[in-house]
Amino acid sequence: LDDGLARTPPMGWMSWERFLCNVDCDTYPDSCISENLYKRTADLMASEGYLDAGYDQVNIDDCWSTLKRDPVTNEQVADPNRFPSGIKNLAAYVHDKGLKLGLYSDIGTKTCGGYIGMQDNLELDANTFASWDIDMLKVDGCYQDTDMMKDTYPELSRALNATGRPIVYSCSWPAYLPEFGEANDGEVLKELAEICHMWRNWDDIRDDWGSVSSVIDYWKRNTTEDIFVSVAGPGHWNDPDQLMIGDNGLSHSQERSQFALWAIFAAPLFMSNDLAHISKESKEILLNKEIIAVDQDPAGHQGILNWSSEGNGDGDVYGGETRVWSRLLNDGSYAVVLQSTHSMGTQTKVKFESSMLDGWEVGQKFVARDLYLHEDIGEFDGEMVADVWPGDVEMFIVDLV
Ligand code: GLA
Repeated sequence: LDDGLARTPPMGWMSWERFLCNVDCDTYPDSCISENLYKRTADLMASEGYLDAGYDQVNIDDCWSTLKRDPVTNEQVADPNRFPSGIKNLAAYVHDKGLKLGLYSDIGTKTCGGYIGMQDNLELDANTFASWDIDMLKVDGCYQDTDMMKDTYPELSRALNATGRPIVYSCSWPAYLPEFGEANDGEVLKELAEICHMWRNWDDIRDDWGSVSSVIDYWKRNTTEDIFVSVAGPGHWNDPDQLMIGDNGLSHSQERSQFALWAIFAAPLFMSNDLAHISKESKEILLNKEIIAVDQDPAGHQGILNWSSEGNGDGDVYGGETRVWSRLLNDGSYAVVLQSTHSMGTQTKVKFESSMLDGWEVGQKFVARDLYLHEDIGEFDGEMVADVWPGDVEMFIVDLV
């Protein structure tokens, strides 16, 4: 949506994957969906360097509302026990920290968790949410016939615009289209780029490598479709879902892989973790400024897969592949990720060749910088080989000499 918002992929924190729909604050006072959770997260984002690194959104996900609308005004209402100060006051608290507040709702009759949905009340709810001073709205697609979505998602886009408040609009429409899994419905993608700032293309991510790599594989399959790549850009982004970095399911190598690849994908970067309990190593990945700069590159080109050992008969014996991904940056250099999806063995040699990149020829001289080591690693003559651990990546910026 070309209205000046989300010119680079939005960054922040979202409660869904880590905190789900836990509404039992008696048993879980620290992790239930309540204003306490969002306040303590906002505090940590501001005090622990996340805000400085660019993570400026705190996003409420499902299960924040009551089960029924206000009988008099028909408005949505926040659960009074878990959000005693109300969403508007929570927004003020978050804004005070220099952060923005995101909210969640659903285009259908109910949210996926069974809470209040927006169907038949799009304008009323857009106005209510704007009056609460929210800065982003994720709109899910449970409990609505998918045939209606070509009308309802654009209608809500217009209603949000009419409120006059700048609100980043995240749409889950494509994730609900059954044919979308493999077919890349180009017409829907083009429409989404006109009416939403970002959209969830596919399945919900979970805290395990099987899930994260299935999302990566989706991006790999669809990167051959021009429309999937070209539809992304300033103001409109494909969304591979939340970062699982700092949770329990990924190894250090897998966390490095997710972060590097999300930057290649020009993906929104939403952590879903507990910032009060996060390892030094995970925090270091999330705060890697050089990789964040790739994600936030102003040109906004989504990266592509340049090469895979699949079908090239190289290194696939133990079930994994090696891959070369790249993303063209604003200054003409490229970010490059060398990936190994092996799950056994030791390091594999992954070769980057200059001719893999658009506009580069065989044997060109280039310089490279390692974005995890934060070091310039020298000049190369047409090719560069990295030793990549199973499930891991190496990430570089390469530039012609
Ligand atoms: C859907 C969405 C998730 C999350 C849940 C909440 O599954 O895809 O990201 O918002 O609903 O119930």
